[in-house]
Amino acid sequence: MKNAPPKRDRNRRPASEKPSRPHPPNPDRAKRDRRDDDATPTGRRVKPRVTSAEHRPDAIVKEVWKPGTMLYPVPIVMVTSASREGKPNIASVAWAGTVCSDPPMISISLRKATLSHGLILASREFVVNVPSVRQVQWADYCGVVSGRTVDKFEATGLTPHPAQTVAAPLILECPINIECAVKKILELGSHTLFLAEVSAVQVTRDLIDASGRLALEKAGLAAYVHGDYVALDKKLGFFGFSVQRKKSGYGSVARRAPSRAGKKRF
Ligand SMILES: Cc1cc2nc3c(=O)[nH]c(=O)nc-3n(C[C@H](O)[C@H](O)[C@H](O)COP(=O)(O)O)c2cc1C
Repeated sequence: MKNAPPKRDRNRRPASEKPSRPHPPNPDRAKRDRRDDDATPTGRRVKPRVTSAEHRPDAIVKEVWKPGTMLYPVPIVMVTSASREGKPNIASVAWAGTVCSDPPMISISLRKATLSHGLILASREFVVNVPSVRQVQWADYCGVVSGRTVDKFEATGLTPHPAQTVAAPLILECPINIECAVKKILELGSHTLFLAEVSAVQVTRDLIDASGRLALEKAGLAAYVHGDYVALDKKLGFFGFSVQRKKSGYGSVARRAPSRAGKKRF
């Protein structure tokens, strides 16, 4: 269903609101008003990357769709779990997210029909393995076959590696492995939400640079966008860059976001 918005003209006011004494048009003011959407909460203006349609907001038409899961991009992760007898399994999960900083907590949502659902319900633990672009084909594979019929570690050749705090193994090849202990289980409908506290994190040492910084930009991470896997290899900025002043010209002050010093961001 299309809903064509009324044409907007920021500079036009109804006749009743017009001042009795007409002001001459102020081109600077008009230019400033046009750029209001680009202002950050601090009032500083940033240069957005826009498509040609976005240069003309009055040309953008919205369509109202029925409710659906349309929050993209999302991470694609490979969740490992294990049976009581120690048989490991891998399932791909896109409905995963960080939900708390302190304590660090993660959620994953699984359909009841998956083998992983039963394994995690019984063991109350799992590992979230973040694949790089090199493991994306295996992430896809582990999302289309079930551990009920296939040993996915054997089929993919991925290496099970002991975790520190949980019985389920992690996937050695994945650059980041997040060990989790389930704290709450919520039945939502099609999916069960497992809310879990992070009990340990393992990262591939090659990604830690000489200063001890985790250089995740070297990991070749990927995201899942509406049915497609995409590589995240283009940096657009860093936390706080929109409010950082450039060191240019007389009187300007370099204002660094405190988070750049490695402090907690959220
Ligand atoms: C990209 C992708 C994302 C997926 N995300 C989820 C998810 O968030 N939750 C879920 O229950 N299944 C998800 N699946 C499907 C499961 O991974 C799939 O049912 C898998 O076979 C379960 O494995 P298991 O039966 O061995 O546990 C996803 C599959 C793919 C390919």
